[in-house]
Amino acid sequence: MTDKFIITPNGPLKGDVHISGAKNAVLPVLAATLLTGQDCVVQNVPDLSDVEAMCGLLESLGAGTRWDREAGNLTVFSSGLERHEAAYEWVGKLRASFLIIGPMLARLGRAKVPLPGGCAIGSRPVDLHLKGLAALGADIEHAHGFISAKAEKLTGARIYLDFPSVGATESIMMAASLAQGQTILENCAVEPEIVDLANFLNAAGADIRGAGTDTVKINGTNGMRGITHSVIPDRIEAGTFMVAAALTRGDIRLTNVMADHLKPVTAKLKEVNVNVQETDFGLRVFHDNTLEVIAADIKTLPYPGFPTDMQALFMSLMATAAGTSIITETVFENRFMQVGELKRMGAEIKIESRSAVVEGVRKLAGTQVCASDLRAGAALMLAALTADGKTELNGANHIDRGYCNLDTRLNQLGADVRRIS
Ligand code: EPZ
Repeated sequence: MTDKFIITPNGPLKGDVHISGAKNAVLPVLAATLLTGQDCVVQNVPDLSDVEAMCGLLESLGAGTRWDREAGNLTVFSSGLERHEAAYEWVGKLRASFLIIGPMLARLGRAKVPLPGGCAIGSRPVDLHLKGLAALGADIEHAHGFISAKAEKLTGARIYLDFPSVGATESIMMAASLAQGQTILENCAVEPEIVDLANFLNAAGADIRGAGTDTVKINGTNGMRGITHSVIPDRIEAGTFMVAAALTRGDIRLTNVMADHLKPVTAKLKEVNVNVQETDFGLRVFHDNTLEVIAADIKTLPYPGFPTDMQALFMSLMATAAGTSIITETVFENRFMQVGELKRMGAEIKIESRSAVVEGVRKLAGTQVCASDLRAGAALMLAALTADGKTELNGANHIDRGYCNLDTRLNQLGADVRRIS
């Protein structure tokens, strides 16, 4: 039985919160350290169970890791990489473990990685990763739930992604960094985490141009070297605290944020009458009770559209907004897992294919609920902050995957969240 949280409503959140390094930037960067064959120091690393799982995976391949969690510094000794097979257990813990296939292929000429299973939010295929690696000259085989890839030498190619997949863009960028010749990757993802990975790779000796646009050129190099790199702040963790301030009609200041990365979230919060101010310390998010929070429609899209990772969190806000909002999830096929639990709290939500119609109610009611995945869990925790009565939120392990000490950090802002082991 995993830990649970008891959340007791405790009024508006007020105060300062320092945003951690981005989970979705640090995971691909840790995979990319394997390309260098040397020691890499990654800084601003968030203390997350997903990061712990990635370290375990790297060590199972022969690389060493040393993680100073307090300081947020994680060193990877990738010279030790010697095994090309990743054990099944790792992909069960961490879907992003599949990101090691590109670096292992480039460094060792072969890789055997478990095919990621689906997860709560969808089937999570990796066909676009594999199509890209095959275009670079890898022989790909799928047998007994494992993907085996091998390539004497990877050769640059022109690749067009059917969908701007974040993971596929990362896999191909990493493998192409050590390929012979130029790779042109079109219709690729443009998320800030892609730019952060390209910055890491270029600092380590790769030659990547255009990251952050839908066409990236990678000129393969012969070797890369160990470097020190600090990952970008976590825009989804920041968005989570912004919604928490809006929900509790509070006033919080976020430091260590990159306001640019939060534009779609900021725009949507302003649309529903929440104030967001850019200041030189970061972002101030507050809601005075002059104007009520009103409903707005949301459609999740690849960056710079409204982030799918913020969909459940915004649904919690819309559940008690004035009016009806239509929330359409276009990125994942099954990312409304929070709906059933929000309805148990009294939310009025109807799912019609890829859209959820949310009719705002005055207040939700505290009850027992269960987290099914990382963002759904966070959304339920936020909804509980202003519900009528206590809420018991089961499945703390889901939240630990992507948020470090979310309960204590919310409590520092005035919430009352108790963790029960
Ligand atoms: C990354 O997942 C993030 N994870 C996700 O965050 C995030 O929701 C997602 O990007 C979209 O922004 C990490 O970075 C570790 P995709 P990823 O490949 O790379 C389909 C969180 O909560 N697709 O852009 O898996 C796929 O099924 C997590 O922090 C294919 O069809 O996302 C999905 O429908 C959840 N074939 C869509 O593309 C492929 O080969 C988006 O997937 C790959 C993806």
